[in-house]
Amino acid sequence: MSKNLRIGIIGGGRIGKVHAINLTTRVAGVEVTVMTDPFANKELEALAADYGITRVIKDYREILGDPDIDAVLICSPTDTHATITREAAMAGKHVFCEKPLDQDPDVIRKTLDVVKQAGVIFQIGFNRRFDHNFRALRQAVIDGSVGDVHLLRITSRDPEPPPAEYVRVSGGLFLDMAIHDFDMARYLTGSEVVKVHAAGAVLVDPAIGREGDIDTAITTLWFENGALGVIDNSRKATYGYDQRAEVFGSRACASSTNDTPTTVSLSDAEGVRSEKPLFFFLERYAESFAEELRDFVKAVNDGVEVPGRKAALNSVLIALAAKKSLETGLPVEVDRE
Ligand SMILES: NC(=O)c1ccc[n+]([C@@H]2O[C@H](COP(=O)([O-])OP(=O)(O)OC[C@H]3O[C@@H](n4cnc5c(N)ncnc54)[C@H](O)[C@@H]3O)[C@@H](O)[C@H]2O)c1
Repeated sequence: MSKNLRIGIIGGGRIGKVHAINLTTRVAGVEVTVMTDPFANKELEALAADYGITRVIKDYREILGDPDIDAVLICSPTDTHATITREAAMAGKHVFCEKPLDQDPDVIRKTLDVVKQAGVIFQIGFNRRFDHNFRALRQAVIDGSVGDVHLLRITSRDPEPPPAEYVRVSGGLFLDMAIHDFDMARYLTGSEVVKVHAAGAVLVDPAIGREGDIDTAITTLWFENGALGVIDNSRKATYGYDQRAEVFGSRACASSTNDTPTTVSLSDAEGVRSEKPLFFFLERYAESFAEELRDFVKAVNDGVEVPGRKAALNSVLIALAAKKSLETGLPVEVDRE
């Protein structure tokens, strides 16, 4: 039996805590020995202790020189990802990094060159690839059930908009939210996006508009294999987190619908009611967050393929092209690896 992979988690915010809990309760073959966060407080220490993580420190650099750490999970804010990835790789640590690696393609390329030279595993946190519904859709394409892919439709709508301060630093709808959908488009079709045309509007929250962002968008995609696609995004769906996809091809149409807390419906004289979709990404994608980490362990131990360089880079290139298309009103060719 191979020894446990010893992991340090960098960043103890929303997603860092999710990963800490999953790694210590639902992923085999790992030990989380330390969490780092410059703003680590009693609450983080208590959560860590509850899950058997006895060390909580402020400076991530302390763990890069620690020979008892094999891998790091980077869960700090986006603008720190590239620097920490490079430093960790140069220290010989395998890296799992939350999306996006950076918002600048040149920085992403340089960072991943360092990773390659260091010979460590790198995985980018596109968790939706590990979702049961989207995996089954992909499988229907791989096994030929769908035939040649002609059309892709993705609906991706949040239940509530983020605060305007978040929009200010996150990179906006295309780079922060739709980036998951751009990766999903590449994953589901198995083809690269070559051109996009984006339309956007501010219909949910004027404060988002004042930050120079949009809260509603439609992106049309052209794929290398000739297929066409469309993604619709909204920051507010009154009925909950709306996450659906459809792949239409020469033999069949495969589609997935939302997960709900139960499948019970109530029919009465007024009509038929069933439950809303699971609230947001923490609920809807809970299992995918554990599953992506199980594959990270397999990637380190057995060389299983995980979303890496192309996923990290091409998703950002699509997002930047969509931003440019919104600004110019024109279709924009997408640069890609
Ligand atoms: N895959 C997904 O669905 C998903 C979901 C949420 C967030 N994310 C990504 O995860 C990252 C973090 O998001 P979040 O929502 O957890 O943010 P957050 O603000 O809740 O947490 C970030 C944490 O990092 C800490 N931090 C800041 N600088 C640090 C440093 N140098 N070293 C270590 N920790 C540092 C902060 O103190 C904070 O506790 C973002 O890049 C975001 O895009 C991905």
